[in-house]
Amino acid sequence: MNNDFKMVAKTMFGLEQVLATELETLGAKNIEIFHRAVGFEGDMKLLYKANYCLRTALCVLKPIANFKAADTDELYRKIYALKWEKLINPDGTLYIDTNVYSDVFTHSLYVSQKTKDAICDRLRKMFNCRPTIQKEDADLRINLRINEDDVTVSLDSSGESLFKRGYRTEVGDAPMNEVLAAGLILLSGWKDCNFYDPMCGSGTLLIEASMQARKIPAQYYRKGFAFEKWGNYSKPDFRKIKEDADKQICDFNYMICGSDISAKAVDNAKANILNANMSEEISVEKKNILESTLPEGKTLIMTNPPYGERLEVADIIDLYEQMGNVFKRYEGNEAWVISSDLFALKKIGLKPSKKITLYNGSLECRFCCFDLYHGSKKASKQ
Ligand SMILES: C[S@@+](CC[C@H](N)C(=O)[O-])C[C@H]1O[C@@H](n2cnc3c(N)ncnc32)[C@H](O)[C@@H]1O
Repeated sequence: MNNDFKMVAKTMFGLEQVLATELETLGAKNIEIFHRAVGFEGDMKLLYKANYCLRTALCVLKPIANFKAADTDELYRKIYALKWEKLINPDGTLYIDTNVYSDVFTHSLYVSQKTKDAICDRLRKMFNCRPTIQKEDADLRINLRINEDDVTVSLDSSGESLFKRGYRTEVGDAPMNEVLAAGLILLSGWKDCNFYDPMCGSGTLLIEASMQARKIPAQYYRKGFAFEKWGNYSKPDFRKIKEDADKQICDFNYMICGSDISAKAVDNAKANILNANMSEEISVEKKNILESTLPEGKTLIMTNPPYGERLEVADIIDLYEQMGNVFKRYEGNEAWVISSDLFALKKIGLKPSKKITLYNGSLECRFCCFDLYHGSKKASKQ
């Protein structure tokens, strides 16, 4: 019997292709790339696997209804008509997350309220009792996406966003989203060499790099998922998915290291590395990038320097110029830098061989690869 259904994994701008490749590896069928999302098909086991293993997904949705609605009254009627009693106990807890891209529906909060009213009115009429709204750990999480008059209602199988891996308890000024960090490493194609982040902050890139190198599933440290509260949840199936994925965990024979000028950042990184049980394999020290040294052997350098409004422009320019000078010492290797400051990126003084547009939160960024040839590129080829 074919138990496949459609699913959608949401991601960040620029990571759609990476996510599609991850899904292909997990055995997903009919993969389709959308804007900040990837559609695919599979069964409940794939839904468990996608939640547990995907590194670049923010959540995995299971669409349950798609319809047109010209206004909020029609939206209410059509939401009311869905069989909510099959999905939630009338005295359970409910959370509704709404994304609206529409001239008709302009207030996502109002749309969420109307949806909640429709669900609660139906259940109250049937059972004289209604669910309560609760953000954390709700029994049922619903995602409503409205594109003009096209409404898709989905069950959110993940719960808390999948970037919340569970290992990061300490963060500094501008911590990188774990999904973005994982995506950057996958985009760089890093493998079979050392990894170094000379401005490591709370250590996100280092921990995600180690998880990838050791094939540690993305949600290995996480406590739970929304699907575990669904009526059709199979604990034995999920346990087997986890066991199979955890069996892949292996050792890694290269160095993963980081440094940062701030003692607090280094303490944060060390605490997070300890949470991930990686203190033996990731080393971090307090150091200005100017004094940084690479581990012995081929090394991929990847970093997320300061940008945005926090530093004075002159300081930023100095820092990026210094970064360029340091990179010139790392010849024979590859350096990847993500920044939203295009002017400062130019001050590195090297021509990027690859440039990828991504977003860090609301900031449009470039993720640039610098091939650190000895002398000129031409001389290196010769
Ligand atoms: C945007 S944060 C990095 C965030 C990090 N990716 C994370 O996930 O937490 C930039 C880091 O660069 C560090 N930094 C700034 N100037 C530096 C320098 N000259 N040498 C080394 N680190 C520096 C800051 O202390 C800060 O932790």
